[in-house]
Amino acid sequence: MSQKLRVGILGATGMVGQRFIALLENHPWFEVVAVAASPRSAGKAYEDAVGGRWKMDTPMPEAVKKLVVLDVNDVEHVSSQVDFVFSAVDMTKDEIKAIEEAYAKTETPVVSNNSAHRWTPDVPMVVPELNPEHLEVIKYQKERLGTKKGFIVVKPNCSIQSYTPALHALKEFGPKLVVATTYQAISGAGKTFKEWPEMVGNIIPYIGGEEEKSEQEPLRIWGHVEDGKIVKAEGPVITTQCIRVPVLNGHTAAVFVNFEKKPSKEEIIERWRAFKGLPQELELPSAPKHFIQYLEEDNRPQVTLDVNYENGFGVSLGRLREDTVFDYKFVGLSHNTVRGAAGGAVLIAELLKAQGYITAK
Ligand SMILES: NC(=O)c1ccc[n+]([C@@H]2O[C@H](COP(=O)([O-])OP(=O)(O)OC[C@H]3O[C@@H](n4cnc5c(N)ncnc54)[C@H](OP(=O)(O)O)[C@@H]3O)[C@@H](O)[C@H]2O)c1
Repeated sequence: MSQKLRVGILGATGMVGQRFIALLENHPWFEVVAVAASPRSAGKAYEDAVGGRWKMDTPMPEAVKKLVVLDVNDVEHVSSQVDFVFSAVDMTKDEIKAIEEAYAKTETPVVSNNSAHRWTPDVPMVVPELNPEHLEVIKYQKERLGTKKGFIVVKPNCSIQSYTPALHALKEFGPKLVVATTYQAISGAGKTFKEWPEMVGNIIPYIGGEEEKSEQEPLRIWGHVEDGKIVKAEGPVITTQCIRVPVLNGHTAAVFVNFEKKPSKEEIIERWRAFKGLPQELELPSAPKHFIQYLEEDNRPQVTLDVNYENGFGVSLGRLREDTVFDYKFVGLSHNTVRGAAGGAVLIAELLKAQGYITAK
């Protein structure tokens, strides 16, 4: 009998859902036993429901092809088959809030990609290397939900992962003002070039809701736990512009920053290269050995060369130099559907299992 935890994926047929399926193939701790999507897909074999929509560059794993897709809305039925779920459904914010809480109330932990619960005060929003201590609010959330094992944890938006880890590693120098322009891949909208031909050779200077998320979510990551809630940090001041670019996978950020106490260039690079978090200490299965790499070459990080650094779980930085207006400027790159979406959630689930929050039912 398998000792692995049984996993369900809500939104399994979508872009992020497919990434979960690909990342969880041969996972040492988790096994995908249930796939759920909209009523349109329910009742079909997974390979038929996905049909020509498979977007990963590795083949669809054999183990999921014949799984019959369940309806996300059949909460009891899906929950009865799994120990926990990953959520990547595309519904309205209110619907997602309600359905994720419904799963939690069936004593099924939910690790979510969606933004719906990112500002619910007792729901931790976690990058495992940066703020694992926020998991502490789970006990208060369980009290509110009236559950013993069920709860919701979320991951932050994909756009912030190209610069927030870099700034976090420099917290001792007090980053106080940050200007970031993000150049975001089309897979962040769940699309490929085939489905979005207008993006070939094009740039669109608008991504709905993205700038607010990019400015506010790092402050929640740097917040603290008080009275069973996350209280967001007051600084640094962050202003962003988020731009869609003709790239399939990989969000790049061009960042300017001022510090309270300006470090030397050598100090910055040393802090980045030495940076480690709990996933590295615990040697979680998906943890990158080196979360941050700094590349010396003037023409790095590049999407095509660097997006898969540490299997897409690492962050690549480069072009650090002094600026004429700000203290420093640099460029960051992260994989938006691995570290920025499904992979980030898998790493959270590994941390939750390692710390005893997720167990077999
Ligand atoms: N793409 C990214 O990089 C990224 C990053 C972070 C967060 N997210 C968020 O993650 C979620 C999924 O994104 P995606 O890019 O994977 O979207 P997607 O490719 O459009 O997939 C959406 C999934 O949700 C299901 N779904 C749609 N309407 C539904 C309904 N009314 N009831 C139940 N299930 C429904 C779809 O099932 P059918 O196939 O049956 O229609 C599909 O499985 C979104 O909320 C998105 O904002 C995406």
